[in-house]
Amino acid sequence: MFNRRKFLQLSSLGLTAAGFSGFRPKTAGNQPIVISTWDAGIDANKAAWKVLRNKGRALDAVEQGVMVTESSQGCCVGLGANPDRDGYVTLDASIMDEFANCGAVAFLERIKHPIQVARKVMENTPHVMLVGEGAQQFALSQGFVLEKEGLSKDAETEYKKWLEKSEYKPVINIENKKHQTAFAPARLSDGSWNHDTIGMVALDAAGNLSGSCTTSGQGFKMRGRVGDSPIIGAGLFVDNEVGAAVATGQGEDVIRMGGTHTVIELMRQGYAPGQACKKAMERLLKIKGSKAKEIQVAFIALNKNGEHGAYCLQKGFNYAVCTGDDQNTLIEAKYLI
Ligand code: GLY
Repeated sequence: MFNRRKFLQLSSLGLTAAGFSGFRPKTAGNQPIVISTWDAGIDANKAAWKVLRNKGRALDAVEQGVMVTESSQGCCVGLGANPDRDGYVTLDASIMDEFANCGAVAFLERIKHPIQVARKVMENTPHVMLVGEGAQQFALSQGFVLEKEGLSKDAETEYKKWLEKSEYKPVINIENKKHQTAFAPARLSDGSWNHDTIGMVALDAAGNLSGSCTTSGQGFKMRGRVGDSPIIGAGLFVDNEVGAAVATGQGEDVIRMGGTHTVIELMRQGYAPGQACKKAMERLLKIKGSKAKEIQVAFIALNKNGEHGAYCLQKGFNYAVCTGDDQNTLIEAKYLI
């Protein structure tokens, strides 16, 4: 925990929240807050906020929040998402609470809410991650039902178009509505958002942090590919003494640098959330060099005081911040290149 002496030391180095970019919520103390990735975070935050405003637990908030996105028949999270290159939708998810309990599933098929299965892994098994057939078997044993096989209408259309060339070429910022194209519409015909991942972190009225992350991964990926989202320390990390962070974008590169664990360790050193995300991004840029232009990666982070921030590799990432019923807004993240 940060004590006063430590705080003064950091202040003298200009390393506290006040000294760096990042946002401070209007109300001090244990004012709950939830933040989440991309445009879809707005709708997800609303569900999370219902839990937080009633003094509910951050863990429940981040689970219920991202379930909204998993339920959308949009293109890139949940069973409505784009498939892998063999035509199957495979889902990854993780969740982590204030006690460093965590659970994850990967390469999971035909289960509507992988985030709920991840929580069951955390609470009802001695393990952290279950994958593929084993994850599905476990889900069924916990009362989840197998959804019907096949693709959503939008995903089927996208898959047919993709088959024409069969090129694996992830689209940067596909998750953002400003990136709208005919091939990747942001607001789909059913009103849902197009995005590949939703990550969410929250601080509750008791002052506890939790986080969640759920995705269908990159569209048209190789069969069996797993990204960063279910990997604790890559796509998601929570340390209740320090903060919580979640990643989105090119999962391989988030894994390569231990993305969210890096962000938390920087916050532990005293960096404000936005600055910690920036420093982590600088590390990624150094690793990727000139190839950085080909990818997008973004981090969002929240600290124990409810201060939040974000940073992305290149322009186009935004995140949603909610601190009240009518205080739920999108913020454009700063970028490196
Ligand atoms: N960030 C999501 C993925 O790469 O799977």
